[in-house]
Amino acid sequence: MRYLRFATAALATAALTLPLAASSATADPSSGHRDAHHHSHGTSDQLRRAAPDGFYVGTAVAGGGHHLEQDYPDPFTSDKKYRKTMGQQFSSLSPENQMKWEYIHPEQNRYDFAMADAIVDFADRNNQVVRGHTLLWHSQNPAWLEEGDFSAKELRAILRKHITTVVGRYAGRIQQWDVANEIFDGEGKLRTEENIWIRELGPGIIADAFRWAHEADPKAKLFFNDYGVEDVNAKSDAYYALVKDLLKQRVPVDGFSSQAHLSTRYGFPGGLEESLRRFDKLGLETAITELDVRMDLPEGGEPTDAQLQQQADYYQQALSACLAVKDCNSFTIWGFTDKYSWVPVFFEGEGSATVMRDDLTRKPAFFALQSTLKEARKH
Ligand code: XIL
Repeated sequence: MRYLRFATAALATAALTLPLAASSATADPSSGHRDAHHHSHGTSDQLRRAAPDGFYVGTAVAGGGHHLEQDYPDPFTSDKKYRKTMGQQFSSLSPENQMKWEYIHPEQNRYDFAMADAIVDFADRNNQVVRGHTLLWHSQNPAWLEEGDFSAKELRAILRKHITTVVGRYAGRIQQWDVANEIFDGEGKLRTEENIWIRELGPGIIADAFRWAHEADPKAKLFFNDYGVEDVNAKSDAYYALVKDLLKQRVPVDGFSSQAHLSTRYGFPGGLEESLRRFDKLGLETAITELDVRMDLPEGGEPTDAQLQQQADYYQQALSACLAVKDCNSFTIWGFTDKYSWVPVFFEGEGSATVMRDDLTRKPAFFALQSTLKEARKH
């Protein structure tokens, strides 16, 4: 721990004082001219190239959700610099909102696939994989569904059709699906009231969701995904018991992932590696899917150097935990620039949670990820 702290600080300082590598070809053919301007960086400078082979470094793709209430246009389609960096730096993409029910299935008889299609196409062109997010959740469901007064039989058919349609549409093009998101509360109790599916259909619907997703895309790895499971605790215990039970019944569950929305208000969750490892031992893949590290911003909104170092240390520790677990091969940050981060909108007084500032300049956390990946690649 002390060693890690020192290493992060030393490497980050070194990286900040070294001249940036000369630019080379962009990985995004859609982004126009090939790195003509000084914002581009060489391939050795890219997180995706620094990573060990078979290890995916991902980001959320901004759009939908809270972005719709901000005073900027859709980031993914409108912000060229943003797109270009996304293509260059990352080897995995997660639609931040564009595959959620309220976005992709806005009316009972209408799907809106335009943005999800665009993201999956972009990923193909840039040789990136995609994490689908998400199919069974208590949040961001459309009003027609939540307020529809459907019978249990109708709801079951609605869920089955949705999963078959959405998963089927992208079959073969999605590496991992977050089939079930946030089904347990902090005490490890199923969200029986909040989650419409569990409330109306009972907990057995969870197994069905995995079965239907597997039928629609036998190649996709099917995950449970949640926050607050970055330690061995009541919530991760509940997942452990559930997964064991489902595996015994031969339900096609392939993975367990930790969102890892962290804050410097709390210590780094020291049990992260152990928590991932016990699912690894069950034979599951594991992943970090939504890492960000928020902090209380001082007056004026600029984080101090000490805050940025602490943040870098958390990013590095989360990455190291995943790298240390055999089948943890997917590490995704929930956006790479503060410009589009959900944090200031959802956590009052907190911000600066990502690895780049609004203008895409890099924070110590970026360099901490880069050096940790490079180090892992050597071994
Ligand atoms: C967040 C998005 O970042 C916001 O744009 C949206 O308004 C709300 O949802 N856990 C999840 C993610 O699984 O889908 C959430 O994303 C963050 C918490």
